[in-house]
Amino acid sequence: MSSPLFDPYPLGPYTLKNRLVMAPLTRSRSRQPGNIPTRLNAYYYAQRASAGLIISEATQVSQQGQGYAWTPGIHTPEQVAGWRLVTDAVHAAGGLIFMQLWHVGRVSHPALQPDGGLPVAPSAIPLQGMAFIANEQGEPELVPFVTPRALETAELPDIVRQYQEAARNALTAGFDGIEVHAANGYLLDQFLNSSTNQRTDDYGGLVENRARLLMEVVEAVCGVWGSELVGVRLSPEGTFNDMGDDDPEALFGHVASRLNDFGLAYLHVVQPEIAGNATVALADPNRRSIVKMIRGIYRGTLMVCGGYDYRKAARAVEIEGIDLIAFGRLFLANPDLPERLRQAAPLNKPDEATFYGGGGKGYIDYPTLRQQRGEAKLPDFARLERELLAAG
Ligand code: PHB
Repeated sequence: MSSPLFDPYPLGPYTLKNRLVMAPLTRSRSRQPGNIPTRLNAYYYAQRASAGLIISEATQVSQQGQGYAWTPGIHTPEQVAGWRLVTDAVHAAGGLIFMQLWHVGRVSHPALQPDGGLPVAPSAIPLQGMAFIANEQGEPELVPFVTPRALETAELPDIVRQYQEAARNALTAGFDGIEVHAANGYLLDQFLNSSTNQRTDDYGGLVENRARLLMEVVEAVCGVWGSELVGVRLSPEGTFNDMGDDDPEALFGHVASRLNDFGLAYLHVVQPEIAGNATVALADPNRRSIVKMIRGIYRGTLMVCGGYDYRKAARAVEIEGIDLIAFGRLFLANPDLPERLRQAAPLNKPDEATFYGGGGKGYIDYPTLRQQRGEAKLPDFARLERELLAAG
């Protein structure tokens, strides 16, 4: 098929080979102990290097920022070395990769926190539901969330510092840029939304105040990378992780407008029909999309994600003024997604049972079209997994 989706796109100093982006995807397969990326992870990302841009899975900026068992970090030398395997493999395969920087805030549990402390948040408001942790035997376990501790105003510069150091580490690890995760109910989104932020200091109340921590983080990481290599991800109207805001138009209109000032690589908006890894029915499907409002305000590159197929993606770039489309589950299951879309070929179906944790199964063994057609050799994936993990 022919569509501007397959055209090169200029992004900062780079030229993306197409406008199809691999969305950040939690896969929970880092080496334990230490949450360290492996050669298996490197192979998985390199398989997907035909994306115009890869955004790494959400990666905790600090131990305090971890919210799920086995997610990788970018705050120790071993993690930086592990990520170097990933960036080298992606570059060798001709791809580009940004790292997504993540602090989960209240979406955590003492079992994952330094010294078994309470998770931190803008306000002491618990999330309903269960945290995904590993118990002392290393087995996965679901345990109820706890009430987080509200951060003191004097602690907020340290949060900014955590992002800044992680940004430096991402540079050392060989990434091509970074994305600040301010979506999906994690720490920066908890500050943005009125349902989770009841602070009475300069970081709560008015939208300007609730957006302050995000702006400070963006400024700090732009100081490390230069703004044209920094993206920001938002999820206006997202309901995942119990989120909500009294007036999302005012909030996200303000944020989009403030982000104009930085000259970022891109703004990345998650559509509200996606909640984490699930598709949800919208309360009012006819409601005007907040993405349209943001497109009217934001002057730079706009990426969208969530529920896109080829037809919707083509429409978005041809008619709706969207620049880049990120695909999550489709890229997970189709390492050669751009080629499959170009050929209008059938797509592999993602297997939810292997989304999180485990090894190569449901990770590196989704075949390409050429492998399925017998035009390329299908590797012995079990053996490949053993070799990759043995190599460190
Ligand atoms: C998840 O681990 O389920 C997860 C992580 C980051 C997101 C959404 C979901 O933005």
